[in-house]
Amino acid sequence: MSEAFVTPGEATLSAGQYDDMVRSAHSQTEAFWLQQSRRLTWQTPPSQASRSDFLNDVRIDWYADGFLNASENCLDRHVATHPDKTALIWEGQDDGQREVLSYRALHARVCRLANVLRRLGVKKGDCVAIHLPMVAEGIIAMLACARIGAIHVVLFGGFSAEGLAERLTDSAAVVVLTADVARRGDKRIPSKTTMDDAITRCGGASRVRHVVVVPVTGASVPMQAGRDLRYEDEVAREAEECPAERMNAQDPLFLLYTSGSTGRPKGLVHSTGGYLTWAAFTHAVVFDHKADDIFWCTADTSWITGHTYVVYGPLANGGTIMVYEGLPSWPEPGRWWDVIDRNGVTVFYTSPTVVRAAMREDDTVVRSRSLKSLRILGTVGEPISPEAWHWFHDEVGKGRCAVVDTWWQTETGGVMITAAAGCVVPRPGAASRPLPGVEAVLLDAQGTEITGAGEGLLCMARSWPGQAMSIWQDHERFRQTYFTTCPGYYFTGDGARREEDGYYWITGRVDDVVNVSGHRIGTAEIEDAVATDHEVVESAAVGIPHDLKGQGLVVFVVPREQGVFDPEAVNRAIAAGVGRYAVPEKIYVVRDLPKTRSGKIVRRLLRKIAAHDLEGLGDLSTLADPEIVDELIATVKAQES
Ligand code: WT7
Repeated sequence: MSEAFVTPGEATLSAGQYDDMVRSAHSQTEAFWLQQSRRLTWQTPPSQASRSDFLNDVRIDWYADGFLNASENCLDRHVATHPDKTALIWEGQDDGQREVLSYRALHARVCRLANVLRRLGVKKGDCVAIHLPMVAEGIIAMLACARIGAIHVVLFGGFSAEGLAERLTDSAAVVVLTADVARRGDKRIPSKTTMDDAITRCGGASRVRHVVVVPVTGASVPMQAGRDLRYEDEVAREAEECPAERMNAQDPLFLLYTSGSTGRPKGLVHSTGGYLTWAAFTHAVVFDHKADDIFWCTADTSWITGHTYVVYGPLANGGTIMVYEGLPSWPEPGRWWDVIDRNGVTVFYTSPTVVRAAMREDDTVVRSRSLKSLRILGTVGEPISPEAWHWFHDEVGKGRCAVVDTWWQTETGGVMITAAAGCVVPRPGAASRPLPGVEAVLLDAQGTEITGAGEGLLCMARSWPGQAMSIWQDHERFRQTYFTTCPGYYFTGDGARREEDGYYWITGRVDDVVNVSGHRIGTAEIEDAVATDHEVVESAAVGIPHDLKGQGLVVFVVPREQGVFDPEAVNRAIAAGVGRYAVPEKIYVVRDLPKTRSGKIVRRLLRKIAAHDLEGLGDLSTLADPEIVDELIATVKAQES
């Protein structure tokens, strides 16, 4: 290990043991994954690991003859050994709001809600939508679903009613849990009324029978008699025990919607046994989990990071999780550093966007906090620049903490490429090395594997337990999206560079997906929303580099009538169709878009023009109208202000 970046104290795994794991996962894969599955408690342990196949119809198959329950793994087995250990520390954004739940207490609350759901007629295999801010009930709701075999679908609080409706319809959710009103700094988000609007928009396609309202602010909200229920009233009626459903390893644990380059959001289906094994394995290995850790993953539970590292990984491993409702710098800068100091957080896992924002504050903010409880720091969602990495290491970690940059995706279920704390020497700016059992490869444009140093499409040659099994109700789309670009491989959508010694550097998406502050935004979704404005002929959304957010969204719009068109209408259409979080940095109103003769929009040019990167625009002769390029450059310049 390099002197500069070692973890303090003994890591659970030595670098040598870690390398042994990499070797045995590679050469004795089946035995290795069976052994890792023993991190969980099974009702019937699996006798086989994987029969996955990336060819033909594509089959993701893990622990197929095993039976278990995810909530038993996250609760009951820890209640049996250490009932009074703290499972969850929650702090609200207002001063003094704090709640500490032991494993026994969390178990009781999960069981009560699980009983409510059963009483409401939720059956194994039904979908339940969870639309809550970062309150304990959000986590309780996920585990309550898992307990009764319901498939949870956590929906982001920033989605518009239309965005929610689309996901409610696709998942056919039968019960929804929502907040009365959510808090976000000074802002109030009307969760319940937005949900009402969403259900109305679903019309006859809605399968929602009940809406359970969690009192987050205590605001009074309209309640529809017979359909809407108060969370406190419902759980009060139920017992603190609830038998857990026996689930097959391949039964879905949850769906999570994510954006791609085409079409509507896809509901990725994660399994119970494979996913939970991956969550437990990666949480333990990447973050060098220790029994007395206080683990704070700052992601919202509506993203995969929140599923795997707020809830399932740390709880499966019997850890203590920190959940904080508020923003990093509200009501004043340094709020999150105070949360760390007040609660003795030992592992802090966040996004590069948060690190960049903190870097912009006066260094006295971070220097006036102790942060001495910290042991490990992590980032996820986008590349972290070496500069931000060093700042994080030096100022937040005070030079004492391991920093893990973790590369992964909604589809992968958990971390795939990283410098596991204490085991792999990190290289600031690099995602570093694939975890044991992750068979990362780089392919060239012809689909041939690149050996040694090189740059290409990042693919996986073999399945791993955390791999999503399918897209909800659309396995063919799953196959098409991930397994046809490079037949025989899982294609991540990212490009990467590899050094001679096997370290990976992620170069970014090679498809039309934009990553704004770690939020994945499909350009097709933006364009569909813009198209609902009848004054628009067509539009193209592209990502440009952004100092704070990593990437910013820019939309080129061709209006029916130049001169009278109001670009604000585009913002409104995006806020209504997708959500406020997707409103672009900039809208350019243009006469036309650069297209090939066959009519395909050349986004590469738009990206360069929007980023004012006019070097090497390449061969323009294939464009239907090459003149449009100079015109666009001039228009962008004129509309810059
Ligand atoms: C995409 C996945 C994984 C949870 C959060 C995002 C980008 C993710 C890194 C990283 C460089 C990263 C990739 C990936 N990404 N982590 N450490 N370095 N890029 O999940 O919404 O599914 O997005 O985020 O482009 O494909 P997601």
